[in-house]
Amino acid sequence: MKTPGAFYKPLAIGAPAPFREPPVSLERMIHFVPPHMEKMRAKIPDLIHKVDVILGNLEDAIPADAKTDARAGFIQMAKDNDFGETGLWTRVNCLNSPWFLDDLLEIVPAVGDKLDVIMLPKVEGVWDIHYLDQLLAQLEARAGLSRPIMIHAILETAEGVKNVEQIAAASPRMHGMSLGPADLAASRGMKTTRVGGGHPDYAVLSDADGTGARTAYQQDLWHYTVGKMVDACLSCGLKPFYGPFGDFSDPEACESQFRNAFLMGCLGAWSLHPTQIEIAKKVFSPDPAEVAFAAKILEAMPDGTGAVMIDGKMQDDATWKQAKVIVDLAKLVAS
Ligand code: GLV
Ligand code: MG
Repeated sequence: MKTPGAFYKPLAIGAPAPFREPPVSLERMIHFVPPHMEKMRAKIPDLIHKVDVILGNLEDAIPADAKTDARAGFIQMAKDNDFGETGLWTRVNCLNSPWFLDDLLEIVPAVGDKLDVIMLPKVEGVWDIHYLDQLLAQLEARAGLSRPIMIHAILETAEGVKNVEQIAAASPRMHGMSLGPADLAASRGMKTTRVGGGHPDYAVLSDADGTGARTAYQQDLWHYTVGKMVDACLSCGLKPFYGPFGDFSDPEACESQFRNAFLMGCLGAWSLHPTQIEIAKKVFSPDPAEVAFAAKILEAMPDGTGAVMIDGKMQDDATWKQAKVIVDLAKLVAS
């Protein structure tokens, strides 16, 4: 049985280490499926064994004249399949669209018992979460559902980024957040047409070397927002995710963007193309060499206190906690 809810227990002040539980379920890739396409729905039984989460997308990328079919297709795919431990999510249309209300009114009574998470796009503030929270409470009560459907917010407007801490704390239904770099770029007036990833012109120029040559070092356009989102999420016990990477022809850049997010605290990313499933699986599973080193730290400091040297590197209570994050994730991947 999948357990939705607070995935990280917050630190109790003064509590001895270990203080934080690992995430209860693996969600390394949220795999997007367009549910109005029958040939894509036919792939679900196979996908269930390959991905951590399957998401039926109803919002952007689904044409306006296919919205009703996408909603019906999602209900169909939810009914037709046993998802087992694989998460079942949907991305509904945004709150002020003509489709959102029917998305909720039709999906929750029909397949709310199988639905783990609703991804809500273009969240701007607590009011958006409160509205969905109450609507879900009514629909769950009417449908006799005992397990709450969780909410995952996409951080993809300047207003949303401004309010990210309040959004994270808005409801016990909050599961986590994803960065939405395409909408966010538009909302902020950033000058890029890419879906995530870097930009060659966003760079820092080195000083001239002896020959007068200078090198441009490309920077991560999303560093600030990912950092802000990770802090907001972790301080409330939620899970942070990098979102989409749109250039399917550049798996190397996708891997690099996902890895930056992983190192900064994200637990997964969206896979929009089958090739991105393996990239996310590789990146969001801890590196075996790192796990082996982390295990040495835990072994050398059984009660998590004090200071020891391992391979010339100082370890103490803080690095013990860092090591525990990595070892716990490795255990989860292995389970
Ligand atoms: C995702 O929804 C994005 O806008 O990047
Ligand atoms: Mg978007």
